[in-house]
Amino acid sequence: MSLRRPLIAGNWKMYKTCSEAVETARNLKDLIKDVTDVDIMIAPSFTSLSMVAGALAGSNIHLGAQTLSWHEDGAYTGEISPSMVVSTGCDHAIIGHSERRQYFHETDDTVNKRIVAAIKHDLVPVFCVGETETEREANITFSVLDKQVTTGLQDIALEDLSKLVVAYEPIWAIGTGKTATTEQAQEVHQFIRSLLEKAHGSGFAESIRIVYGGSVKPDNVAELMSMPDVDGGLVGGASLDAVSFSKIVLY
Ligand code: PGA
Repeated sequence: MSLRRPLIAGNWKMYKTCSEAVETARNLKDLIKDVTDVDIMIAPSFTSLSMVAGALAGSNIHLGAQTLSWHEDGAYTGEISPSMVVSTGCDHAIIGHSERRQYFHETDDTVNKRIVAAIKHDLVPVFCVGETETEREANITFSVLDKQVTTGLQDIALEDLSKLVVAYEPIWAIGTGKTATTEQAQEVHQFIRSLLEKAHGSGFAESIRIVYGGSVKPDNVAELMSMPDVDGGLVGGASLDAVSFSKIVLY
């Protein structure tokens, strides 16, 4: 078990209209209203952020964006700036999710810019890293993660990183029903913590939450959370239903 305060986050991806999102948020608020020992965050689509923020008012649930632009403003059709994200009521932003990297050409460098932008606007960056199945089979998981973590955090001062959350999401486990074993998760989380230690020392590394993502479900969350370096979960599919997500929060 980790000594850090857990974070359970739900990534709703491109699911739910405004009214569906509000309904799920309301149900969730009610189901987990008594939870005080876990940080909880949901990341609906941009279009429903403001309405969900209203539905969550006075609750213990934080709101996150699924990505953001690193530009302050300008002629960038379709993009969402950090100030826009903050103005909806968000205090978190998921950054560098593998689907953004895979389908929308995000790179370690643009992920780095987004992290810098999130920090500047006082958003908690939930920084996603993870290897593909091919990379795991080729035994290059650690070098892939080393590059993602090192480049993603390059040139960011230690004092700006206090709120950082790292999400380890093996791509082969996302939406596939294949979860990493607890040993696989622990091994990689420990490795990521060692990278943070190398960069900024052990006090920093020990303070940072590293959450696991990839087919987290009500029936496997407790086992994952029993690992010393697993500090929470980033949940996709199982976060879409209020009852199933509440079970994960209440693991
Ligand atoms: P999943 O997604 O829980 O559906 O595997 C996790 C994620 O993409 O964050």
